[in-house]
Amino acid sequence: MRISFGDLVIGDIAKKNFQKVFDKNWASEGDNVREFEAKFAKKFGYKHAIATSSGTDADIVACAALYDFGAERGDEILVPALSFVATANSILAAGFTPKFVDINLETLNIDPTKIEEQITEKTRAIMVVHTMGKPCDMDPILKIAKKYNLMIIEDACEAHGAMYKGKLVGKIGNMGAFSFYTAHQIVCGEGGMVTTDDDKIASVVRSVKSHGRPAGSLYFDFQRIGFNSKMNDMEAALGLEGIETFDVFFNKRKNNLYKLLDMTKDLSKFCYFIKEEQYEKVSPHAFPIVLKDKKYDRNKLYQFLESKSIQCKTLFGSLPTQHNAFKFLKYNFGDFPVAEYVGDAGLHFGMHQYLNDDDLHYVSDALHEYFNEFR
Ligand SMILES: Cc1ncc(COP(=O)(O)O)c(C=O)c1O
Repeated sequence: MRISFGDLVIGDIAKKNFQKVFDKNWASEGDNVREFEAKFAKKFGYKHAIATSSGTDADIVACAALYDFGAERGDEILVPALSFVATANSILAAGFTPKFVDINLETLNIDPTKIEEQITEKTRAIMVVHTMGKPCDMDPILKIAKKYNLMIIEDACEAHGAMYKGKLVGKIGNMGAFSFYTAHQIVCGEGGMVTTDDDKIASVVRSVKSHGRPAGSLYFDFQRIGFNSKMNDMEAALGLEGIETFDVFFNKRKNNLYKLLDMTKDLSKFCYFIKEEQYEKVSPHAFPIVLKDKKYDRNKLYQFLESKSIQCKTLFGSLPTQHNAFKFLKYNFGDFPVAEYVGDAGLHFGMHQYLNDDDLHYVSDALHEYFNEFR
């Protein structure tokens, strides 16, 4: 594929840190992981950063930490109906029930006006997802969380470095979750991070990601249900380089995103594109498109772009009503009309730092060629 979702080029910093694994004969969680956590926390301004084996595990561990704060098995966590599946899967894996909330068509994020109607006496938290790097509208969400005494987990896996009204994502709620899979801005191969400014939460997260032992201990004293969600030193070796290259890559991705948005602005009569408001900083994760009318045929566009070597993925779809996996929760098609519409009319493709101007013109030409038929 000429246009992929992301790429990894392993440079000298990663190689140097990888060499330490050979020199010390130690590949599990160790010095590289500790350095990666410290540098991630310092770079972005989080008080605590706790590395995990994936973004999915960051979500699982963040959810499972809620048991130390009054939650009980079977309680509910609110989550947008549309997001990458790891969100709802993590809630289930941690022993909770996902309670879905429809999204906003233009932001692709949880619709704050639809949250309150889903709250029950079992609701313990809201997992918001900053989809495609666009921050959720956090002010009304914070208000609702305060009114109903709910914790907020921010899934920022697609949103490294995004800001909402001057505040960094992963710091606005009680915990943030990040992914370092190849499509993301810091890459470990596989890897994740939980961030928090709260000392007690940090200590519980450290325990949960290491089988529920006391934070930092390797002794067999299991204080809570936990998992093996630890990152290893080979993954952290790659992530340490990602911290050094973050600003350059972020700006390159952002320039690419702005350039392609500019080249395709005449197509906005056919598509919703990602928008950046004055009060926010969008993190450039990918290039999402939602068709303004289903007659423009998402599946045909998808096939057309793939035939041009532009790797596409749908925009996730409504997890509870468009994916078999969640059938057992007994939602009905029609319960989440916006998520379902985006499920039928949305797609996205990569917008990473290794794309050059020729690539952007190539994508723009392909999109124009496709929509010419509808002019
Ligand atoms: C919103 C969201 N949450 C969670 C994840 C899971 O991250 P990982 O693939 O590192 O497990 C992803 C992955 O891309 C994601 O986009």
